[in-house]
Amino acid sequence: MIPRRRIAFEWADLGDALRALTVSPSLAAEQVRAFEGAFAAAVGVPQAIATASGRDALGLILDGLGFVPGDELVIPAYTLGELVPLIRARGIVPVPADIDPATFNVTADSVAARIGARTRGVFVVHLLGAPCDIGAICAVAERRGLAVIEDCAHALGAQCEGRAVGSFGRAALFSLEATKAVATFGGGVLTTSDDVLAAHIRARVADRPRREWPPVRKMLLKWVEEAVIRSPAYALLAPLMFSERAAGAFEKLYRGAHDKVRGNPAAFSAFQARLGLRKLARLAARQQVLNTRWEALAAQLPGRFERQQRNHHGSAAFYNFVARFDGDIGALRQAALRGGLDLGVGSEVMDDTAAMLGFGDCPGAACAFRQAVLLPLYPGLSERRFRRVVATLGRLAQEVK
Ligand SMILES: Cc1ncc(COP(=O)(O)O)c(C=O)c1O
Repeated sequence: MIPRRRIAFEWADLGDALRALTVSPSLAAEQVRAFEGAFAAAVGVPQAIATASGRDALGLILDGLGFVPGDELVIPAYTLGELVPLIRARGIVPVPADIDPATFNVTADSVAARIGARTRGVFVVHLLGAPCDIGAICAVAERRGLAVIEDCAHALGAQCEGRAVGSFGRAALFSLEATKAVATFGGGVLTTSDDVLAAHIRARVADRPRREWPPVRKMLLKWVEEAVIRSPAYALLAPLMFSERAAGAFEKLYRGAHDKVRGNPAAFSAFQARLGLRKLARLAARQQVLNTRWEALAAQLPGRFERQQRNHHGSAAFYNFVARFDGDIGALRQAALRGGLDLGVGSEVMDDTAAMLGFGDCPGAACAFRQAVLLPLYPGLSERRFRRVVATLGRLAQEVK
């Protein structure tokens, strides 16, 4: 079975990061500051603040920007559905802007169409690592005096108009979860060029407890998952592991280790900072390998698959490799599993937040949700397996209705 994703892992990183477990609190804080400095430099902004997760960063941004109950926030109609309750928990009203199903991203026009008298901000995502048209969206928001928040959870290293994403809006969030480009087993980063906002948020996270073990525990859990994925049992377990029920239980176990949304988030740890620094240093090389691989796969995709298009102003740092399939994706997924390919479909890719919120007027998001297929492509996919992916997709395109 070829899984849809794998964790990039290097022993040297581990040795270095584990040494951080024993350092004093002041040295730990210094290492986190070093990571934040390197991250800010990579994004080209003055301020980067390490957080417990991408979700945590979003919560801090919303609170820091002074959103109050009743304010409307334009959000993407196709993104991670778990962000919706986080926004609503603050009394903020999320209003979905439709996406272009070719790029999976919102556009300046779809955002403008959702701006009304109660709109306070615009939240956009650079989905799957492909930048949205952020320059034009910021221009629309600026004319209306609205704050733009960039969701760069998938897009560390992507650029638009020659600038890194995460440097355009009032603030941005990044995710450092296990499958992300810089994976620190939990954690996130908030970037901003607004020193006042940064000072306010730093004061909020300053007295969070230091807990080094939860990310280590997460790493161990991920290893168990990897061991299962590498074993022959994976063919039998994959449909179970990725069922909605199992995904819920796994999420609880995995995320519960370092609570992401509720409760009392821990400070970003020295272990995470060390791992993050090492992975940041390799980011450009990793991205180049993955982008080259994706171009090669996309060039060989059968006609029934349409790859995610890039916005012509930007360069992507693809995180997941998604195409639209013009047939029954449920049947495609089943046939692929039988053929040894673990594809992701439906909410395994992203969610139709417009449908979740009861908006029936976002055909782009509905189309993406119906057609998106996450293809197996990850750092370390061998040439032999790569050729098997291409051949199997070719066969499936002929067989599946
Ligand atoms: C689009 C999007 N935004 C935000 C997040 C939140 O990141 P985290 O898992 O670090 O909380 C994710 C998670 O993958 C995501 O997919």
